[in-house]
Amino acid sequence: MELHQASVQWVYEAKNLQETEQLAAYFAGQAKPGTVIALDGDLGAGKTAFSQLFAKHLGVQGTVNSPTFTLIKEYEGRVPFYHMDVYRLTLEEAEDLGLDEYFYGDGVTLVEWASIIVDILPKEVLHIYIEAGAGTERKMVLTGRGEPYESWITTLKRNGVGLE
Ligand SMILES: Nc1ncnc2c1ncn2[C@@H]1O[C@H](COP(=O)(O)OP(=O)(O)O)[C@@H](O)[C@H]1O
Ligand SMILES: [Mg+2]
Repeated sequence: MELHQASVQWVYEAKNLQETEQLAAYFAGQAKPGTVIALDGDLGAGKTAFSQLFAKHLGVQGTVNSPTFTLIKEYEGRVPFYHMDVYRLTLEEAEDLGLDEYFYGDGVTLVEWASIIVDILPKEVLHIYIEAGAGTERKMVLTGRGEPYESWITTLKRNGVGLE
């Protein structure tokens, strides 16, 4: 019998974009080939903003645009960076396009609107749900499923961001 993937959860409250950047910097520092980060949250919550800050700390030079219309864009950072937005796709289309091949490739993948393709995401994944509050406040529900993501969240719970 298959058991549910173990998970560790932590809620991070960012007061502003700088505090979102601290979290993005932490994850960018931990990322390695095969890392998959699934982002969810309403339009304007900050999925693309988080992705841009993550890319910056992964060493990506230049502009990272929203991939809403391109679906997937590849960048060169410390490791390759694959930025997806599956808002316009169905699960079947994502399967037909072979998007899952990116998850097991040489780079780090961030997926905006990831819940649409949850069936083809790896079992081990870092999930970030972003919820907008007043002004620049953002609540981020972080769920690490499997390793190394559980350890990342456990470390954050213990140390907070900024202290790696
Ligand atoms: N703390 C914060 N974290 C993330 N984004 C923020 C924050 N405060 C303000 N913003 C702004 O909110 C907007 C989020 O838009 P975007 O990232 O495109 O959302 P999404 O990709 O989820 O639709 C951006 O203009 C961003 O600068
Ligand atoms: Mg977006």
